[in-house]
Amino acid sequence: MKLAFVGLGKMGSPMARNLLRGGHELAVFNRTREKAQALAAEGARVAESPADACRGCDAVMTMLSDDAAVAEAAASIVEGLAAGAVHVSASTISTAMARRLASLHAERGQAYLSTPVFGRPEAAEAKKLLVVAAGPADLIDHCRPVFDAIGRQTFVAGAEPWQANAVKLCGNFMLVSMLECFGEAYATLRKAGVDPHLFLDTMNALFGSPVYANYGRMIADQQFEPAGFALKLGLKDVRLALATAEECNSPMPVASLVHDHLLSAIAHGQADKDWSSLAQVSARNAGLPG
Ligand SMILES: NC(=O)c1ccc[n+]([C@@H]2O[C@H](COP(=O)([O-])OP(=O)(O)OC[C@H]3O[C@@H](n4cnc5c(N)ncnc54)[C@H](OP(=O)(O)O)[C@@H]3O)[C@@H](O)[C@H]2O)c1
Repeated sequence: MKLAFVGLGKMGSPMARNLLRGGHELAVFNRTREKAQALAAEGARVAESPADACRGCDAVMTMLSDDAAVAEAAASIVEGLAAGAVHVSASTISTAMARRLASLHAERGQAYLSTPVFGRPEAAEAKKLLVVAAGPADLIDHCRPVFDAIGRQTFVAGAEPWQANAVKLCGNFMLVSMLECFGEAYATLRKAGVDPHLFLDTMNALFGSPVYANYGRMIADQQFEPAGFALKLGLKDVRLALATAEECNSPMPVASLVHDHLLSAIAHGQADKDWSSLAQVSARNAGLPG
């Protein structure tokens, strides 16, 4: 397909590279131009603006930090995207923003899909992302070659694009709750004189999950830099999960607690550390060095 990609950060760069490797024609745009230049060597056209990247393309994928960044890019994208072409939005954004984007594009006769992803930058590099797609079924089928080029499996969440964002936000809530639980358990065990690594071996036997194994090791090793997923972005996601819970009149008390612990982590200068450093909050609460 003829594609555009906007947002070449930790996730966007490997995703765009895999689209090129998948044989797609690609134009790229990034606010900081150097990151786009790196992909020119691999065959991408470096565009001057999101609108410029979109000219003549079938679909544009965006992978930007948050609602504000996607809104800014979308204002340009609508100017360049042809009627009938589709905006495939992979960023972790609010359900409200997904609804705004769907109507913005509909007003121009353009299509919109929400396709947030699970997996860290290493998974993006290895083409092992889990893609959660929502929107009209025929449009999802049309875009399958894009999902197949970046991920190992695609899940369809529903016919309304924002439903995919709800799945992503609840999924990140599950992940951050696991980080909170590791933090609390390790703090207690360190005070009980038990090595967290020994405990992790037991938990790995119990849960058999690569996600538990990887995050459990990072926290046991207290290895929080460089960040694969910055803690400040994790706080954004918990805020968005709570906003979705509010829309749905569905209390999420654990999310509220984790939200406050993430704020405490930010107050202790952890914004740019990996979000697994949330565990340091429980350590400090237990009187341990954080
Ligand atoms: N990292 C992960 O493990 C992970 C996993 C799944 C989903 N996500 C989600 O994926 C998205 C991207 O995450 P990431 O880790 O790739 O973040 P990142 O490395 O910080 O990249 C953010 C991207 O957004 C751009 N950007 C930010 N603000 C902008 C603005 N106002 N205008 C234009 N561009 C702007 C950045 O441009 P510059 O290069 O110019 O700064 C960069 O291209 C986020 O929604 C995140 O929640 C991340």
